[in-house]
Amino acid sequence: MSKRGVTILLTLLLTVCLIGMQQVKTGREGQSLAAEAETAGDKLVALTFDDGPHEGSTERLLEGLKEREVKATFFLIGQSVEGKEELVKQMAQDGHLIGSHTFHHVQLTGLSLEEACGEITMTNEAISGVTGQTVEYIRPPYGSWNSKLECAVNMHEVGWTVDPRDWDVKDTDVIVKRVLNDVKDGSIILLHDVYDTSVEAAFQIIDELKAQGYTFVTVDRLLID
Ligand code: NI
Repeated sequence: MSKRGVTILLTLLLTVCLIGMQQVKTGREGQSLAAEAETAGDKLVALTFDDGPHEGSTERLLEGLKEREVKATFFLIGQSVEGKEELVKQMAQDGHLIGSHTFHHVQLTGLSLEEACGEITMTNEAISGVTGQTVEYIRPPYGSWNSKLECAVNMHEVGWTVDPRDWDVKDTDVIVKRVLNDVKDGSIILLHDVYDTSVEAAFQIIDELKAQGYTFVTVDRLLID
């Protein structure tokens, strides 16, 4: 064999060898990534509560969430904060995420830009005045949102994916059944902590979904991921 032939043969062998090594490496990486995804592969779900804070029911909810070591998200009505500062403080201390649901529970798109901004800034001030934390999330009542609002450029709008219409049925069994029927990994569940039937439903939903391997997170975790 000529010198040139040997060189070509060696180059070929080296190339085959390198490709082989690369494949083994990628294979291993693929396997370890899959294993990581499995161990970190908890099904995530977020419980969100609108229209509070409410005397009695919100307090019971906070107690039950603490017992179950669950973090939830609350979208508060600004005008309801006054007189319930301790409750809102507790909410923040317990690690729940607190967002805005406007000051007077209004349909923002039905207002002038100025009025709508008033609703947003007043609520943010009412909440952060108690918690010391900036309000970054908003669930606009009726899901009606105006993305042109300059006062809200740094706020994130939060929707929902599971709506058992708890405010309508006010029946714990029905609420639980509807949620368990519709829930899946990444679900954002909409409830209202102004009804005892919803609070009791939340506890049953938590206990059942935990047994099914779900982890409860604040809604920001689902929006970023
Ligand atoms: Ni509402």
